[in-house]
Amino acid sequence: RGLGSSKLSIPSMSETSQTGFFISFEGSEGCGKSTQIRQLVASLSAAGLEPVLVREPGGTPVGESIRQLLQHSDEGRSLTPEAELLLFAASRAQLVREVIQPALLAGRIVISDRFLDSTTVYQGVARKIPAGCVESINRFAAGDRLPDVTFLLDMDSTEAMNRLRGREAAARPDRMEEEPLAFYEAVRRGYLACAAREPGRIRVLDATLPAEEIADAIRQTLASHAIYPRNSA
Ligand code: TMP
Repeated sequence: RGLGSSKLSIPSMSETSQTGFFISFEGSEGCGKSTQIRQLVASLSAAGLEPVLVREPGGTPVGESIRQLLQHSDEGRSLTPEAELLLFAASRAQLVREVIQPALLAGRIVISDRFLDSTTVYQGVARKIPAGCVESINRFAAGDRLPDVTFLLDMDSTEAMNRLRGREAAARPDRMEEEPLAFYEAVRRGYLACAAREPGRIRVLDATLPAEEIADAIRQTLASHAIYPRNSA
């Protein structure tokens, strides 16, 4: 079940209706998130499920402009942590209402490349904005519907940075990617703390394993949520 069905038998994380299925991916830079998302989209599409893929910040015209400001503009370099938090939240508020909620209400599977845990961790833990402020802004922006499952790709921060620096030979680093190692260590700690608080939602995956093994673990988890038939997992 789960394919076109409008209700899933998973525990509800929200007070609103639980149609569709909402998956988010989290992890620090260099953890292999994009590879896993690509593989999952391919595998769900092959099973006839046509997921809706979005990214944060971004995913809407407004959100993509905010992404440009946050990550690639010269003006973005003068952002205060508070303004940065509100811009990530603004992008999310737009994405949730313009794309995610309508897709879920239509019974679709939505995959988000990052969601509110990124704000909890990057702005809350790494930029040290008080957790209570981040939580209430997150709640305001995201509304009631949290991801049904979040895959956290976890690996040692030094190794993740080395992977990233390798890639940077080809691409100019964005503003966040210029942060020092200590920032990414805080990000990792923050993510693991989120997973410890919400073990039912956040599944931690060892990002140093071969990509195919990680993809298998993801498919198995989704099969256990009846997202697609076990024989295609
Ligand atoms: P990415 O999409 O290439 O991973 O880049 C997004 C960057 O923005 C990444 O450095 C994480 C950061 N970020 C935050 O700091 N807070 C947020 O709420 C989100 C969604 C992303």
